[in-house]
Amino acid sequence: MVTPGKPIQCRAAVAWEVNKPFSLENVEVAVPKKGEVRIKMSSTGVCHSDLHDLEGINKNYPFPSIFGHEGAGVVESIGKGVTSVKPGDKVVLCFESFCGECENCRNTKTHLCKKTHSVMRTHFQEDGTSRISCKGQKLSQMNSISTFSEYTVTSELNVAKVNPAANPNILCLAGCCIPTGYGAVMNTAQVPPGATCAIWGLGGVGMCVVMGCRDSGASKIIGIDVNSRKFELAKEFGCTDVINPEEVNLQNKLAEMTNGGPDFCFVSVGLVPVMEEAFNSSHPQWGKTVIIGLTNVGETMKVGIWDLIYGRKLVGTHYGGYKTRIGIPKLVEKVLNGDLELEKLITHRLPLEKINEGFDMLISGETLRTIIDFDMKP
Ligand SMILES: NC(=O)c1ccc[n+]([C@@H]2O[C@H](COP(=O)([O-])OP(=O)(O)OC[C@H]3O[C@@H](n4cnc5c(N)ncnc54)[C@H](O)[C@@H]3O)[C@@H](O)[C@H]2O)c1
Ligand SMILES: [Zn+2]
Ligand SMILES: [Zn+2]
Repeated sequence: MVTPGKPIQCRAAVAWEVNKPFSLENVEVAVPKKGEVRIKMSSTGVCHSDLHDLEGINKNYPFPSIFGHEGAGVVESIGKGVTSVKPGDKVVLCFESFCGECENCRNTKTHLCKKTHSVMRTHFQEDGTSRISCKGQKLSQMNSISTFSEYTVTSELNVAKVNPAANPNILCLAGCCIPTGYGAVMNTAQVPPGATCAIWGLGGVGMCVVMGCRDSGASKIIGIDVNSRKFELAKEFGCTDVINPEEVNLQNKLAEMTNGGPDFCFVSVGLVPVMEEAFNSSHPQWGKTVIIGLTNVGETMKVGIWDLIYGRKLVGTHYGGYKTRIGIPKLVEKVLNGDLELEKLITHRLPLEKINEGFDMLISGETLRTIIDFDMKP
């Protein structure tokens, strides 16, 4: 039985070691401390960023850990001093927080909160500890949130309160792939009507880039993926053209289709050669390449200095540049209005015990987005 003020025993998927499957365990979720909230999770998405971390993209990642950074749920209880949410509120968990008060939160130049950004990168809470333990051992909490658990505790600054009418079993996608992909277009690139755009990687994030390009009124939206099974849906989301790079000379083809090269190139694949290919395919005088995919921490890519001098531009994007607790509730309204077709992104639903199958399907390319539905029984 769940009682506010008492620790909760529940199930979670534990990543004990790098490159090993998740293990379903009984864990203990502590009472929220001052400024923290405890959430009963409704849904969580299987994002490629979890896979990158599991595969060891960051050699300093603190294992053992509860992964998951794309999630939604309901506030079960709150710690002292919490004012922005109350028990029963529907929330999206955010892997970047927003305090609303610091120099950065008050500045439009960044979405990264000065006070808390570095805390979330430790994968612990602000006091350096974790609220989830298993077999007497503390487990780190991915981005301080940990969504692969039936219950979790995090700071109130990491949850966005959203419209209670939103469907909790799909809402998790508003925690990562929607803001990341849609914001890459709306905030980072600021694609004007009539622009030509190309998107490498038509996964969950890439499809949200496609929707952003569509809503910006782009004249050409070219989806590029080595897996042609993604093409049909990409066209439904707004791609005007689709290309398998293994079948053509991609750079020549893009130059031919866009009168020299796309105005905007988005890379939602975590591969350096693909990032370099996109940059070198962008329009030589004004093409802008936006990097979304993650690579090993510390990795570099090669760009020609003279390409930059003559006009090619290169930027990256993180969380689509949204100030999370302000931006995410607005995106949820777009989902409720039917402007963002979130349901179409979901190709599979699984109960928590089958989470490893979700990752296997992500690797094999069978899925677009798999949702772990906490209400679903195996
Ligand atoms: N910057 C951010 O804030 C942020 C946030 C979320 C995710 N990401 C990153 O975005 C990337 C995409 O995430 P996702 O969950 O959509 O992944 P995904 O695995 O669902 O999609 C990746 C797609 O890329 C395709 N692909 C693989 N190799 C390719 C190639 N050589 N050329 C073209 N396409 C290729 C795959 O077939 C797949 O369709 C990941 O690297 C993820 O870590 C970044
Ligand atoms: Zn993600
Ligand atoms: Zn702040």
